[in-house]
This record gives sequence, C-alpha cells and structure tokens, in this order.
Amino acid sequence: MTEHTGSSYQGIAQKYAQMVENKPIHVYYERPAVVSLLPSLTNTRVLDVGCGSGWYAEYLLNQGAKVTCFDVNQEFVNITQSRVGNRARILQADLAQPLKFASDGEFDLVVCPLVMHYLKDWEEPLCEFYRVLQPQGVLVFSTHHPFMDWQLSQKEDYFAVDLLEDEWEIGKVQFYRRPLTLISQNLNSAGFLIERLLEPQPTGDYYQIHPEECHRLTKNPWFLVIRACKRRREGGKEGRSEGGKEGRSEGGKEGRSEGVKEHD
Ligand SMILES: C[S@@+](CC[C@H](N)C(=O)[O-])C[C@H]1O[C@@H](n2cnc3c(N)ncnc32)[C@H](O)[C@@H]1O
Repeated sequence: MTEHTGSSYQGIAQKYAQMVENKPIHVYYERPAVVSLLPSLTNTRVLDVGCGSGWYAEYLLNQGAKVTCFDVNQEFVNITQSRVGNRARILQADLAQPLKFASDGEFDLVVCPLVMHYLKDWEEPLCEFYRVLQPQGVLVFSTHHPFMDWQLSQKEDYFAVDLLEDEWEIGKVQFYRRPLTLISQNLNSAGFLIERLLEPQPTGDYYQIHPEECHRLTKNPWFLVIRACKRRREGGKEGRSEGGKEGRSEGGKEGRSEGVKEHD
C-alpha cells in the first residue's frame, strides 16, 4: 500500500464539487485536453478512477460508455451517485490499495483525471491499471505538471518526490510533487507505453472569462495529460518487459505522437 493524501478532501467535498463544476481551468483547459485523448466510448467499458463529483462519469455515460467509478471519499461517492443514479457502478475504494473489485482485463479504458498526484508511489496503482485493462486497453490521465509543482515547491531537489501543500479558496490540500522522469519510468515499469503527452493550452471562451489566468496558462504549463497503452512483448504476449512492440493508437494506426504544447 502506498501513502496518499486523498483525505485532504475530507469535509470539503461538497465545496469542491460546487467549485469544480464550471471552473474555467476545468471547463476550458483540463477536460478538453483529457477528452481529446479518449478513444471511441460507445459500449466501452471504462473505469473512472477518483471520480470526485462525477463530471467525467456523466460525460462517459452520455457518450455511451459502460462506467464503473470509485473514489476514496464517501462524500464524493454520494455526490456522483446522486448525479448519475444507477447508470454507473459507483464504489468507495482506495487507489492506494489493490482494486479487488475489478477482475483482470475487465476494462477497455481507465480514466484517471487529477488523482495521481495524491499518491506518493505510482508503481502499484499503475500495475493495477495494467491488470484491469484488456490487452488493447488504454489509460488516460491528467496530473499536475512537474514544472508547475516545482515552481510552487521551495525545495532544493527537483528529482525528489515531495509532499506539498496548497491553500485553495475552499481549504488546504496536500499532494505529491515528482519529476517528469519518474512519471515516465513508473509508466514504463508498470508495462505502459506513452502514446500521447499534452501540455494543454486554454480553449473556448477562457480568455473572455478570465483573461489574466488564461494568459498565464498560455505561458506556463499547469497540468500534464497522458495517454498510454499496454506494451506488447515480442512474440505477441502482453507484458511488462522492455522493448516490446508498440500497442495500438487512435484509429487503430500504429505509432505514437510526441506532441508538445498541443492545441485542442
Ligand atoms: C481533484 S479531484 C478530481 C475529481 C475528478 N476526477 C474530476 O476530475 O472531476 C481528486 C479526486 O481524487 C480522489 N482521490 C484522492 N486520493 C484517492 C485515492 N487514494 N483513491 C481514490 N480516490 C482518491 C479525491 O477524493 C478526489 O475526488
């Protein structure tokens, strides 16, 4: 079991749910970037990890996906429940523990928006994502950009993993900062291959609504969005060894793009 700071949301889940729903950074920045990396969702079996107030669960359901979602915080589970009712399977579970409710290869897609930075170690959770995904399965997640957290951090060592605390309008939240290399290494050793990596840019009406914040986001990275597939071993077996063949990418084409500062 890895340490996590998911309890940061204890007591502020309702406030967070209200704040996050229409917040420009989510509406015009994080969500468009995550959505742009999702595969076709019709009849896709999706695990929505750390579902929070359920925006993604509802979006996925509306696109025709079959959704299982979970959150460590019972308040968020209740909020998502009241949002989507029995259209999804909604569970209280901890990503820092093995995902016992899920069988091997049960899902086509794991979506994990803005959750991973609450976990100190990523290897075990990523191995669980690998396990519950079918061989052609895809992982899409967003997290704090290491550069943003490095600016916030007062520490000396960029290459360390540090516990940081930020003061939001709704309360204090703790999370872990980590170097980009470690993100890549953890994905690789869990058996994933990075297909796409986005440093999003603001979209839509962001500039009209919040020009200063929007301007800052055009000049500074904030979140990182990654799409990864399961690596294949030579000989056709899926697995976690080095140097296998690449898995599929969007539209079934081979290969991957290494987009930096892609626009939505
Ligand atoms: C920033 S919110 C994001 C919510 C949602 N994914 C979204 O994008 O709207 C982070 C969520 O991660 C959840 N979380 C944090 N640590 C977790 C853990 N160890 N297991 C499951 N969920 C966790 C929190 O309870 C919270 O709902």
